[in-house]
Amino acid sequence: SRPATIEVNGKTYTTDEWYNVPQTVLALTGRKLHLQKDHPVAITRQIIESKFSTATYKRYNEFDPVVSTIENFDSLGFPPDHVGRARSDTYYINETTLLRTHTSAHEAELFRASASDGYLISADVYRRDEVDRSHYPVFHQMEGARVWDRTKVPNGDVVAAIYADLAKLPTHDVKVEDPNPPHHPERNPLQSKHHSPEEAEAIAAHLKRSLELMVVEIFTRAKQAAARQDPNYVDEPLRVRWVEAYFPFTSPSWELEVYYQGDWLEVLGCGVSKQELFINADQPQQLGWAFGIGLERIAMLLFQIPDIRLFWSKDERFLSQFTGVQDNLDKLKRFVPFSKYPACWKDVSFWLRSTSAAGGNTAVANVHDFHENDLMEVVREVAGDVVEDVQLKDQFTHPKTGRKSMCYRINYRSLEKTLTNEEANDFHERVRQGLVEKLGVELR
Ligand code: PHE
Repeated sequence: SRPATIEVNGKTYTTDEWYNVPQTVLALTGRKLHLQKDHPVAITRQIIESKFSTATYKRYNEFDPVVSTIENFDSLGFPPDHVGRARSDTYYINETTLLRTHTSAHEAELFRASASDGYLISADVYRRDEVDRSHYPVFHQMEGARVWDRTKVPNGDVVAAIYADLAKLPTHDVKVEDPNPPHHPERNPLQSKHHSPEEAEAIAAHLKRSLELMVVEIFTRAKQAAARQDPNYVDEPLRVRWVEAYFPFTSPSWELEVYYQGDWLEVLGCGVSKQELFINADQPQQLGWAFGIGLERIAMLLFQIPDIRLFWSKDERFLSQFTGVQDNLDKLKRFVPFSKYPACWKDVSFWLRSTSAAGGNTAVANVHDFHENDLMEVVREVAGDVVEDVQLKDQFTHPKTGRKSMCYRINYRSLEKTLTNEEANDFHERVRQGLVEKLGVELR
């Protein structure tokens, strides 16, 4: 049932047995929400872009979502056995071609092109994932990087050049916490083969100030929007902190977290770019930093959007609330939810096969190759945006037969209308059949 070829944004690709992109996901490759005027994803992009000068950071907002495994993984130093490469996590068109899982897939080519001292990319990215109010198989990221060239700075003094650029940035008065050492000799090392400690420190200082300014802008705007609608809104001082992180293509690496409504939220990942990227891009004399940020996550905070499915809605009750904001960001307001329709829970229980010798049918889910994301996709394919979340409720292994039983609870709730019980039953029956046909489970 796999198509021999598929088309994405006017280009044709040949599939092979790695192909695992459902039609529903393929259909979203042309939506480009980050470029749709007054869409909250586009507004969020614009707010972030406003904190990076166009003279230094060249914008790339039209890269195709289809990339090679080399671009998405190898060029960034992902090991061959990295989990991100699994077909359970990533949408493949064929063995060497996939829908990008992150905007970092374009880092290597931009470093090679070396067309500017920095760049910002915004784009749609694709991940097979669970179903709930904050996960969707397509979302948007923004990637940024800043590079310096040792051969092009005054007196060849790159440290002085970086601090001179840092001095040109504005300051802010938000409390920044740095609870851990900024690097760790094993977990998060400096690249001592390639950088002096002073160089690494200068890059990190420029990176941190640049990203703090961006986050301060986002959260200041979020609070202004809240205060505009709620005269009793009490402003709490913003708190941000840097925590250690790991990415295969940066070291040291950090995440920036913001304290918001009682929780520390992780808002972005970043770090000092691995020198191997510059060396492999024939730019060994360059060095710099990169970051990546998820736009929906930020938009949900800015506008108080409660469910990620809403971004894909064409309902005017959603879209019209943001009209005019891109031309005047001071019009930014919180989203006012239209009535929430009732939820309809249904459970499905099934047995997994206890051995992998399941009659030669490779699609059969046995205990060893059952991937929850495959179940999530069956549910999405049947019920699409009518499913709000899917949760594992129970699992146990039969003491005598050794067979494993799973029970999932599926929450059907439309964003646009009240589902009748018949409609929910109909979805659920088709989900049950899909699980049998696609995963080979035995319903209980
Ligand atoms: N690509 C990373 C992610 O998707 C984020 C990142 C970008 C981290 C650039 C470091 C540098 O999680």
